[in-house]
Amino acid sequence: ETFQEASGLSLKEKKLAQILDIKKVIIVPGDVNIESSTTQLLGKEASEYLTAVAKKDNTVAITGGSTVAALTSFLSPTKSLSALTFIAARGSLGNEMNLQANTLVSQFASKCGAEFRTLYLPENLSENAFATMVKEPMVKEVLDFYDDIDIVIHGIGSANEMAHRRNSNEAIINMLNEKNAVGEAFGYYFDETGEIIYRINTIGIQLEQVKQSPHIVAVAGGSLKAKAIQAYFKIDGTKQTVLITDEGAANAILEK
Ligand code: G3H
Repeated sequence: ETFQEASGLSLKEKKLAQILDIKKVIIVPGDVNIESSTTQLLGKEASEYLTAVAKKDNTVAITGGSTVAALTSFLSPTKSLSALTFIAARGSLGNEMNLQANTLVSQFASKCGAEFRTLYLPENLSENAFATMVKEPMVKEVLDFYDDIDIVIHGIGSANEMAHRRNSNEAIINMLNEKNAVGEAFGYYFDETGEIIYRINTIGIQLEQVKQSPHIVAVAGGSLKAKAIQAYFKIDGTKQTVLITDEGAANAILEK
């Protein structure tokens, strides 16, 4: 009997996958909002999942965030992982360098002995600057990768926390509140019904490109993220995602 079965998590995984109507759910014990060490368990599961699905020369797009960052310590230069190319799914984010996709791809690649591609551009560009930048050959090279990504690993954030982390101005924070934003992923803010209500002029992977990827892994835990997680899976095209979460988030969704 595995730990999952012994703790009844296996049953919860099935129930949660049913409620969210997604491919697969993996639940780790704990709640990241109570014990921050739970994040490491999420990272461990995600790295094991990556190891299981990774094939030679696959491209892996990763977003930033503390949860995705938790994979780092579990990655090693195995045969399948060392032949990967990690691609930053986004430009920079706020001032937290250690949580950015760009930083994480270089760390992942160095742990695995793999390749990586970064996108060193501010995430929050004006429309004009955005239109000009995407035409730059160096930027275009990375953006072209997004059309053919084999594996996506991403976080899901609470709308409020993400808006603050990005130092978004008051007008944007007020707008997100007015429109009842609950969650954020890939720079898209959405409400409880999975409706996209705002998106940053992000240079990065588009939801349409994420949907084309054969393996999509979301890593997000904590009871405070329950609403964001549940809403994210109401967005069209997210159903083939494998969710790696914790009991805190799972219970909050299941008990609703
Ligand atoms: O887009 C969502 C964020 O990447 C989530 O960040 O894992 O630090 O909560 P977090």
